[in-house]
Amino acid sequence: MNIGVVKISKKVLVIAVMAAFLIALGTYTKGANSASLNKMRVTKDQSAIHATKSGKTIGHLPKDYIIEVTKKDGNWFQVKNGKSYAWIWNQYTSTKLDVPVFYKASVTKDKAPLHISNSGKAKITTRLKKGKIIEIVEKKGNWLRIKTNYEMSGWIYASYTAMDKNSRKVSVIAHRGASSLFPEETFLAADEAIKVKSDYIEFDLQLTKDGHLVAIHDKTVNRTTNGTGYVNAMTLEEIKSVDAGYRFYKKVTDLKINTLEEIFQRYGNKVKYYFETKNTSVGQERKVLSAMASYGINESNVILESFNLQSLTNMRKLNGKIKLVQLFQVKKASELAKLDIREIEKIGYGIGINHEYLNEDFIWGVKSRGLQVITYTADKQPDMKRVVNMGVDGIFTGNPGLLKSILN
Ligand code: G3P
Ligand code: CA
Repeated sequence: MNIGVVKISKKVLVIAVMAAFLIALGTYTKGANSASLNKMRVTKDQSAIHATKSGKTIGHLPKDYIIEVTKKDGNWFQVKNGKSYAWIWNQYTSTKLDVPVFYKASVTKDKAPLHISNSGKAKITTRLKKGKIIEIVEKKGNWLRIKTNYEMSGWIYASYTAMDKNSRKVSVIAHRGASSLFPEETFLAADEAIKVKSDYIEFDLQLTKDGHLVAIHDKTVNRTTNGTGYVNAMTLEEIKSVDAGYRFYKKVTDLKINTLEEIFQRYGNKVKYYFETKNTSVGQERKVLSAMASYGINESNVILESFNLQSLTNMRKLNGKIKLVQLFQVKKASELAKLDIREIEKIGYGIGINHEYLNEDFIWGVKSRGLQVITYTADKQPDMKRVVNMGVDGIFTGNPGLLKSILN
């Protein structure tokens, strides 16, 4: 970080924490001259370090402290400091060293204090000049943690900063197209999504009996068309015989259920897509890639989402670049803390959560682990505003025009 005032604080902080670490390590057995395996970041504040594996706690490390791992033994990492060694529980660490920047802001109060932690009694390490540009890496209540370097960072009151609106983008994802206004998953709904300049169009994918990927949300055609039956028990010819606009307009239309190929044929690389794999035991991922190859669709224009982690890991094995979003459905707020995002943290781009029980701390906690938080499905203005203000990175909506107007 090339900012003078932060450099001063960094020095102070480095000395303070290194001193604490050295004191804590004072009683360690001197280890062999192990080579460093990996640098890792401490992910839990006040993570205990131990003299021996499972031995007594001899100190604590702050969140984001960088450790050098010299040995792995089951769930323990041996960490190095100079010639001394200690042990830390590996779940308190992460290999992701890049601190994600969520948005830039400027300091609005002269001599705004930067604190060592986000506690009310925290020591002030330095003061920031009004107008200084800072990079926000975490938010907790009224506190913002700013990026300095991997080892250290400081906390500033949110009320002393003004967000740079250009530095944070909320993606508008047309959910099944502009499905509040037009029959879901049809070209009419997708055309409208493009007209209002959505960032992405979402399609749900199901497989027909004869192996074609088609854009329809439900397992059956019953809710959205004039036909009946399970998609996976119908041939493409049978799927094409039903009217995809009938239920929406309550009259006969010429709207069809589209294949993935037809979607690519119509929109190509002119739009970006979210595809949700709905039935995952049948190799949908390979078929998505095959259709993309046939129509020359750029990997950067496709995000794959699924409630089924297996589908995402399948895709990652087949393709290293396509962004992956794991969907979760939360039925009460307390479930948020129990979500296991460790796998998607390794391979993914983000998580998708229904908006009802989201809260700011959860969102920023996930973001601090390098994942985007996308939410579904916000069709009403108050819900859109609420989740935008909480800090989500993208919103699935059936009314993308309304969301665009709010964001603008
Ligand atoms: O893809 C996000 C959201 O669409 C997941 O729920 O049931 O609408 O596919 P669903
Ligand atoms: Ca979906």
